Amino acid sequence: MREKLAELEARSLAAEAGGGPERLARQHERGKLSARERVDILLDKGSFVEMDRFVEHRCRDFGLDEQRVPGDGVITGYGRIDGRLAYVFSQDFTVFGGSLSEAHAEKIVKLLDLATRNGAPVIGLNDSGGARIQEGVASLGGYADIFLRNTRASGVIPQISAILGPCAGGAVYSPAITDFVFMVEGVSHMFVTGPNVVKTVTHEDVTFEELGGAAVHASRSGVAHFRSATELEALERIRGLLSYLPANNQELPPYCPTDDPSDRADDELLDIIPDEAKQPYDMHEVIKRVVDDGAFLEVHRDFAPNILVGFSRLGGHAVGIVANQPAVLAGVLDIDASVKAGRFVRFCDAFNVPLVTFEDVPGFLPGLTQEHGGIIRHGAKLLFAYCEATVPKLTVITRKAYGGAYDVMSSKHIGGDLNLAWPTGEIAVMGAKGAVEVLYRREIADAEDPAAMTAELEADFREKFANPYLAAARGFLDDVIDPRDTRRRLISGLESLANKRDRMPPKKHGNIPL
Ligand code: HXC
Repeated sequence: MREKLAELEARSLAAEAGGGPERLARQHERGKLSARERVDILLDKGSFVEMDRFVEHRCRDFGLDEQRVPGDGVITGYGRIDGRLAYVFSQDFTVFGGSLSEAHAEKIVKLLDLATRNGAPVIGLNDSGGARIQEGVASLGGYADIFLRNTRASGVIPQISAILGPCAGGAVYSPAITDFVFMVEGVSHMFVTGPNVVKTVTHEDVTFEELGGAAVHASRSGVAHFRSATELEALERIRGLLSYLPANNQELPPYCPTDDPSDRADDELLDIIPDEAKQPYDMHEVIKRVVDDGAFLEVHRDFAPNILVGFSRLGGHAVGIVANQPAVLAGVLDIDASVKAGRFVRFCDAFNVPLVTFEDVPGFLPGLTQEHGGIIRHGAKLLFAYCEATVPKLTVITRKAYGGAYDVMSSKHIGGDLNLAWPTGEIAVMGAKGAVEVLYRREIADAEDPAAMTAELEADFREKFANPYLAAARGFLDDVIDPRDTRRRLISGLESLANKRDRMPPKKHGNIPL
């Protein structure tokens, strides 16, 4: 037995050594953590249980027969995050550049199957040169096997991808299918084709960072949901994100008791809305003053900042927040905002996270760029997502709720469970200026003093429509509330909806306008 144990120990050491000390030193010189260090930081101390550490590749060509590293460039296993089960794979760049062989793919597939069967989240720590070139189609097939598992697990267990190195070619599509993508400045790169190919095909000269760095994907393409300055920060944030999520779609998000009183009234909420209707204000202020301890984990912070999405808690209950942001583009809905919020709403609905919507929206963004870019198609995604969502839906109109955007933003008509407005709410087909222009164009043109007539008509319109009471009179709003009571009303509403039962009619799946 002792001899056998010695062999096990030797083999274990070889598996832990990965690509060897020189390559490990190179990884550290680049400011990157090793695959094992990442797992240790992500999971609760000492909780990691590794699987498949003796798996090796089966390639005999290109001299690979001589080069076998136990584990084959990916560490897989399970552990705990804040005491809760989580599955993790971590690609080891020191072993063939973390490239994905058939055997490497099989390890990830096994992990995804286990996580799906056992109803626990999967976190993928990606650091890979892509398909292992020497293995050809076996490696491409391995990727496809992973894509299929990612898709089957979508909406069943939360799937999180951290990009902690290169991620190129079709390899980007596994992270893209998952729910949240984390990137680190200067460390992560994602692109379908790299700078060299781009130069050959389009003659564009771009750096790795310009083409697919964290800043680009967090702010322009929207591929990355979170952008961190360091790997440590990214791993810590993944833990934070999971604290809001259930382990799977059959469970509720964890309840997290708070000392923040449920009936806390905030006087500052009275002064947030400026007197002048066109003046911006920061919706973050409203959110932070209402939610537990002011904590808001913002998703997609730098992408489409005219709408805010993220996780918070109300009275200890996790909620997904969607909020128009009047401080950016007046909070208008455009293509990116619709896509961003639509996907977030669908995530929350899939994982039993109630939705709280703060609304101050002047409508959809007009213009050629938006119309030709497909604002109809993309705006419909957000509409579809809200209509389809059966989780508790609570809405607070703080100021404008104009036009189609009124309908879209979790209105009573599309299944809002609790619809409240502040006294500053304005619910109308459009703003006073636009309405008067459409309705009285001829009369104004013929008037002795067009400016005076316009001002009078606009004031009339505002008096009639720029308030929440017409909607409240029809029951489209459940109540008009004192802004200071927002927290109390949302928490009591949320608790009254704890046993909500609602389902879409049986179907294979809907046909969301993609
Ligand atoms: C096999 C690979 C590899 C790969 C890197 N290596 N990529 N081995 N298959 N795809 C090996 C290198 O030979 C080297 O081995 C080690 O990993 C580190 O690579 P370096 O080039 O020294 O590192 P670096 O300078 O940091 O460059 C990293 C890199 C570069 C940018 C990732 O290696 C690269 O461009 N690799 C190829 C990327 C690529 O085109 N992959 C295919 C994408 S298409 P030694 O022994 O020296 O340590 C794809 C299709 C997926 O993935 C399809 C899914 C549908």
